[in-house]
Amino acid sequence: MFTKRIEKMANLLPAGKVVADIGTDHAYLPVYLIKNSIVPRVIAVELNPGPLEAAKNTVAKYGLQGKVELRRGDGLKPIMPGEAAAAVIAGMGGATINSILAESLEVAKSLKKIILQPMSDAHLVRSYLQSHGFRLVDEELVLEDNRYYEVLVVQPGDSSEFDDIMLEIGPILFSKRHPLLAGYLEEKICHYKQIIDSLDRSCKVGAQEKKQYFEEKVYFLEKVISCLLDVPR
Ligand SMILES: C[S@@+](CC[C@H](N)C(=O)[O-])C[C@H]1O[C@@H](n2cnc3c(N)ncnc32)[C@H](O)[C@@H]1O
Repeated sequence: MFTKRIEKMANLLPAGKVVADIGTDHAYLPVYLIKNSIVPRVIAVELNPGPLEAAKNTVAKYGLQGKVELRRGDGLKPIMPGEAAAAVIAGMGGATINSILAESLEVAKSLKKIILQPMSDAHLVRSYLQSHGFRLVDEELVLEDNRYYEVLVVQPGDSSEFDDIMLEIGPILFSKRHPLLAGYLEEKICHYKQIIDSLDRSCKVGAQEKKQYFEEKVYFLEKVISCLLDVPR
């Protein structure tokens, strides 16, 4: 339950501050944060009744009712500006994360730090951030049970403009030469090659344009890997 991914996100949060965990599910992150004395209090928000019940059970099991406050609601809406110094929005698709931020911009901008962990479409999240007054301050990758997880650390503020390939790779993962990045990009290339193969066999209108789009992605990602590994490809 206290996985490497949970641990990584917990250690990226500002110690000693109140944190909001949005989409808490079983409330594993809040419990980890309190049990390890990283923060004094967590406001855990959950939209759906089943996961909220699971969260209640976890909090009760650890006797943390006074330190983890559960709120039922949508995204950041149950949080007032100033109630939390940081928030975590993890384990959801990139489009859902973007809409949670977009629907509560005032609250999001009041936070000192936001940890985002999209399960898909991280490029859409980076693109949203750079055009809506948020800046990436760190990025991490976690490999757990053969799956890569991207973790974005964000603050309100002006951002640099990144091109499409950097939005996909993660500009900070690239600039700090994250040790898991080459493996992660290899996995993406493998996935895109499968798409290219199926587009090759498709007679649908636009299949060739799509194929060219993915071939270009593969070309650029291979260049990035060779740069990371410092070998010509
Ligand atoms: C896959 S779980 C991730 C749980 C946890 N955050 C983690 O990373 O391990 C996603 C959770 O987010 C909840 N959720 C989805 N959309 C939400 C929203 N708009 N507001 C609050 N919770 C939401 C779901 O009900 C589900 O419990």
